Amino acid sequence: MVANPSDSAPAPQLVDEVIIRMRCPTCDSSVVALDDESGVACAEGHRYLWRNGVLDFSKAVTTSGTTERTFASFGYEWNAFDEVRGEDEGFSKVYFRDVDLASLKGKIGLDAGCGKGRYTRFLAPHLAAEVALDGSSAAEAAARNLAEFPGVMVVRSDLRAAPFAPESFDFISSLGVLHHLDDPFAGFRNLLTYLAPKGQILLYLYSRPEKMSVRSVALSCAAGLRRLTTKLSHPLLKALCTPIAAFLWVTVVLPGQWGERHRIGTLSGLPMDTYRNMPFRGLVLDTFDRLSAPVEHRYVWSELQRWFDETGLVVDAAREETGWFVLAHRP
Ligand SMILES: C[S@@+](CC[C@H](N)C(=O)[O-])C[C@H]1O[C@@H](n2cnc3c(N)ncnc32)[C@H](O)[C@@H]1O
Ligand SMILES: [Zn+2]
Repeated sequence: MVANPSDSAPAPQLVDEVIIRMRCPTCDSSVVALDDESGVACAEGHRYLWRNGVLDFSKAVTTSGTTERTFASFGYEWNAFDEVRGEDEGFSKVYFRDVDLASLKGKIGLDAGCGKGRYTRFLAPHLAAEVALDGSSAAEAAARNLAEFPGVMVVRSDLRAAPFAPESFDFISSLGVLHHLDDPFAGFRNLLTYLAPKGQILLYLYSRPEKMSVRSVALSCAAGLRRLTTKLSHPLLKALCTPIAAFLWVTVVLPGQWGERHRIGTLSGLPMDTYRNMPFRGLVLDTFDRLSAPVEHRYVWSELQRWFDETGLVVDAAREETGWFVLAHRP
């Protein structure tokens, strides 16, 4: 485990390149930093204050029941599992495999739905400035984990009403986020308003198999379990996730690992193959993630392709590795 960069509340990080792009979510005018350094305000006097290293816009928009439950779930998750982990670096290489990192030099990025900031951390050194945005109190875990990057500003806001001017960002990542919205395509179109012409967007979205398979049966079982677990209290679910993950580890992950080593097709073809090279604690976190979030959508490629066709984006790369990684740009 890599130690947390900071355990105390991090100091606010005002980033000039970000402030100039910011817009008041109430009246749409630009904002400036307050003299007492407590936050920012627009000319109309709407103020947004720092809270534990996060510039907080969460009160500017009223949230519906599902969104509130989603934010409560992820706020709990990322503050309970908030450490920067050694394995995050390895995941980042998988997530950003299709991105030409050198091309990000001098550019401004947005990580929409940043959680504890594990992927924001990976991108930050490649960009001139980056916004780590999350609608939940996960933003506070992100602020702790991103305090060492002076070009990163952490913002708490719903991505569908982010406090930025249109076309503000050259690169947007939204990893494991849109499939948790009631209407993921509407959320996607919303995100695109913040993307500059020629800008790139990287998405990670859950996939589902087209045909009946071991994975499709496992996903149906998980969907059945979710009907119960999404109603449990977060601390109780967290306590249950260790035995559930242990059961999956022994019955699926280890046999798959063994089958892969001994080239036994039926076993190596078992699902959850990404966990074969991951520490057990990664499965505990993901078990909580899968069983707690109130909304979960899954896609086959033809459904996602429509998103890009209808919005006029050009797909640069698309691959399925337990989920869809799609990199696209605005022409
Ligand atoms: C599964 S987590 C992924 C976090 C991070 N991208 C990662 O991969 O580690 C989804 C994150 O999206 C955030 N989120 C969900 N809906 C959102 C919304 N409408 N606006 C902003 N953030 C949202 C959640 O609070 C949560 O932190
Ligand atoms: Zn205003």
